[in-house]
Amino acid sequence: MPSFPTARLRRLRSNPTLRDLLQENTVSLNDLIYPIFVEEDLEDPAPVESMPGVERIPERRLAASIKGIAAAGIRAVMLFGVSRHKDEVGSDSWNPEGLLARMVRICKDAAPDLVVIPDTCFCEYTTHGHCGVVADGHVHNDQTIENLARQAVVAARAGADMIAPSAMMDGQVAAIRAGLDGAGFCGVPIMAYSSKFASSFYGPFRAAAGSELKGDRKTYQMNPLNGREALLESICDEAEGADILMVKPALPYLDVLSQVRARTLLPLAAYQVSGEYAMIKFAAAAGAIDERRAVRETLGAIKRAGADLILTYFAMDIAREGF
Ligand code: PBG
Repeated sequence: MPSFPTARLRRLRSNPTLRDLLQENTVSLNDLIYPIFVEEDLEDPAPVESMPGVERIPERRLAASIKGIAAAGIRAVMLFGVSRHKDEVGSDSWNPEGLLARMVRICKDAAPDLVVIPDTCFCEYTTHGHCGVVADGHVHNDQTIENLARQAVVAARAGADMIAPSAMMDGQVAAIRAGLDGAGFCGVPIMAYSSKFASSFYGPFRAAAGSELKGDRKTYQMNPLNGREALLESICDEAEGADILMVKPALPYLDVLSQVRARTLLPLAAYQVSGEYAMIKFAAAAGAIDERRAVRETLGAIKRAGADLILTYFAMDIAREGF
């Protein structure tokens, strides 16, 4: 490589078309999964104050909403249920007539080509808000993964295109794979929330999903200051049979994303979480940053770091306005 003045890297930035031609990464609707919140026994859409532009969709309006989402060009949705039937273990989530199964059926009926991915967890369905069975004050790993497998089979039977376990239990991918295969759903892929950190950036989500909990999730979600451990989690999930790995949140963990990218051949997803969304929305509303440019820059950075797929609440804005 020659050096200045022979080398002048600005030559290739001299005009806009050239800059377009040389852009290394791009984001399209084929990369995006749109997370939505669906509440049972709700009359009108309920705005989520901590996430401007996001609302809880009443279950009775879900079919119409999903048709609109699909018509806008969104290819995939992630479903979060806001339950009125919570119990100690979150059993509504594996009831074939429960909210999770109903949401999946409604979506698949309304838009058969839309990829429907229910979040596979319990925190939206338990009275205590933890992601599993609580025994002696702790979340019990091995009982929880049995229930995760139950939930996954019910979701697959309802028509789910993919299962996305987010509970951060050890062995959850293997348990779900065995459950799905045993029930005849060997063709349903698993997108594993492999490196899910105990993050402050989930704050707005917990209000949106009604999964506020006393305490924290530090015994199952990862310490934000650990990077190697995230690689271990990813390696374990790959070995257990995950089809897609995920890093969550996205922006504060781009180093993790790029290191996982370097170590696996599997597709990789990243979740731009509620707090990342809220930061951009509120900063833009205050006039501090330009929203569209910030969305472009953050999603582009997540792609650049190695994500094939991005879960983002901005998906609908992008469908309407372009990237
Ligand atoms: C459920 C779950 C959470 C999120 C996705 N799935 C919350 C949590 O773990 O506390 C967060 C998503 C977001 O903040 O946008 N386990």
